Amino acid sequence: MAFELPLPPTPVLETERLILRPLELRDAPAFQRCFPDWELLKYLHAGIPWPYPPDGAETNTRESLEKRARGERFYWVITLKDGDDEAIGRIDLWPFDGQLRDMRGFYLGRAYWGRGLMTEAADAVTDYAFRVLEWPFLYLTNAVPNVASHRVKEKQGAELIGTEPAAYMSGEYPREVWLLTREAWIARRPAASLPRRG
Ligand SMILES: CC(C)(COP(=O)(O)OP(=O)(O)OC[C@H]1O[C@@H](n2cnc3c(N)ncnc32)[C@H](O)[C@@H]1OP(=O)(O)O)[C@@H](O)C(=O)NCCC(=O)NCCS
Repeated sequence: MAFELPLPPTPVLETERLILRPLELRDAPAFQRCFPDWELLKYLHAGIPWPYPPDGAETNTRESLEKRARGERFYWVITLKDGDDEAIGRIDLWPFDGQLRDMRGFYLGRAYWGRGLMTEAADAVTDYAFRVLEWPFLYLTNAVPNVASHRVKEKQGAELIGTEPAAYMSGEYPREVWLLTREAWIARRPAASLPRRG
């Protein structure tokens, strides 16, 4: 079946500059340092507490680990290969539930924006979804004004299939819905981009 649950354990994925490893509770302090930043949060879905509480990252990490233990989502911590293993961002992936057209989420600490790092991370996770899990498609979304997130999807070859109303931290904006199919991904990418399984 295409989106079988429970999901398998989260593998380690490696790219040219990054190691994506499974989220752990020890990552919460790093997220508590970089996440409470309005520029980072403003186009994330409404509902994140603001001002961000001092235990916000720990609460979120615990909840994420529970969802992962139930086999519902993958959570990768993004770390730099030439860094100290500290989390600089996160990327999540989950299967299509038949309704919500959204299957991936990501953010990066502001100090790391604009170097192509999320494109690299998203490519590894997308390759895993299509080549290893053999999912047939990914629905992806972003707020219309979130140009950087829009651009990551565009660079991946996703097709913009529509917009719909949505509520974000900074207000209501249409959200763009994108479709990336396994067929289109495999046709564009050589098999050499296969991620390493941990
Ligand atoms: C979205 C986000 C993950 C992008 O990470 P990143 O590593 O900076 O992204 P990349 O460098 O891989 O690519 C960003 C692209 O957007 C472009 N871009 C960024 N800001 C832009 C802007 N204001 N206008 C036009 N293009 C912009 C970059 O130039 C780049 O495109 P290019 O490679 O053609 O030059 C990062 O900005 C972030 O964490 N934002 C806050 C959280 C968030 O919004 N997450 C997504 C929710 S849907």
